[in-house]
Amino acid sequence: MAKTTLADLGDLTGKRVLVRVDFNVPLDKATGDVKNDRRIRAALPTVQALLDAGAAVIAMTHIGRPEKATPAERKNLTTDKVAARFGELLRRPVKKVADEVVGPAVEAAVKAMKPGDVVLLENLRFDPREQKNDPAFAAALAGLADAYVNDAFGTCHNDNDASMVAVPAALKATGKPRAVGLLVEKELHVIDGLMSNPKRPLLAVMGGAKVSDKIAFIHALLGKVDHLLIGGKMTYSFLKAKGVSVGATRVADEEVAAATPLLDQVDMKITLPTDCLAAKADDLTQTRVFEGAIADGFEGVDIGPATLAHYANKIRQCGTVIWNGPVGWFEKPAFSAGTKGIAAAMAGCDAVTVVGGGETAEAVEQFGFAEKMTHVSTGGGAFLAYVEGKPFRSLEQIDDRP
Ligand code: 3PG
Ligand code: MG
Repeated sequence: MAKTTLADLGDLTGKRVLVRVDFNVPLDKATGDVKNDRRIRAALPTVQALLDAGAAVIAMTHIGRPEKATPAERKNLTTDKVAARFGELLRRPVKKVADEVVGPAVEAAVKAMKPGDVVLLENLRFDPREQKNDPAFAAALAGLADAYVNDAFGTCHNDNDASMVAVPAALKATGKPRAVGLLVEKELHVIDGLMSNPKRPLLAVMGGAKVSDKIAFIHALLGKVDHLLIGGKMTYSFLKAKGVSVGATRVADEEVAAATPLLDQVDMKITLPTDCLAAKADDLTQTRVFEGAIADGFEGVDIGPATLAHYANKIRQCGTVIWNGPVGWFEKPAFSAGTKGIAAAMAGCDAVTVVGGGETAEAVEQFGFAEKMTHVSTGGGAFLAYVEGKPFRSLEQIDDRP
């Protein structure tokens, strides 16, 4: 069932709309500069649509995990630089209103807002009540606005975040409308379609480090997909579980244990790489391709050329491809051929192509293929959880479309 969206909010002339965005973007550790503004760009259509409808926009986001940061790191987690980039992209001033998340200064600034004005609140997580669904904190935020919009797909799986759950609940209690934004609407539409009625064959490419982190996701995929192609570091957990030597590749026992129950699907739905690129653990410039067992002293760093050719061929023959997790250590150019090759094969094929997960989206962008995909999700954990079919309390707060 589709959720209430912007079009259902009615006339917004002169209204203040509180918009939860996910501007949890990568920042430069030293300077706090925004390193990648993809998530900011992804929320612009919603903000622009609200402004076009005559509203003033109060945007709010979390950034990073300030509760775990040192004081110096915490300084860089303010929304100042994000507000500046948001304003540049929106081509209008965005005011970072105050150093407090809620309180008199924020209330005064919001009261003074006129249609077309945009403010960004301070990092929500600077207030410890944010991650506790605190009702008083939620009431203070809800009291700022006439309506609420959730356009923070990347955070939709966070059931305890006040801005995602308790705030829309507080607006509901006072009879104010709530809706999902255009980004959340699109993410849900694409992923729902992918999981309920995909163009077949449906193929998944899955990489990343840990089988154990993604076990629920893998099971959800196995119930839906025709093929699951494995790459990345998790390959070596499968190989080790099969009793194949992985050389100097570090694989934790719990990863082998996570991969073992999946072995009966290998060569059925699950395909493992037949070759891999490995580098000498003590000198990464020395590389060799191994088919099967990896020699002592070498660690696996990418899928091999035969595997890439085989996977690319599979991609070209399917109706839908869903990709999560880089298939190699792509941050190092010498080990990026596999990840780049998968991205290129997806970009060049006729299938519906969906990319999910922070690192995977980053890789696709870095190699210049993002525009050629059907959809690049802004969700990391949220993408995995939504594909798994987990219910989100944040979305339960938004009514179904009338
Ligand atoms: C994310 O990037 O996963 C979201 O912004 C949520 O952030 P979190 O993982 O710190 O809750
Ligand atoms: Mg996360």
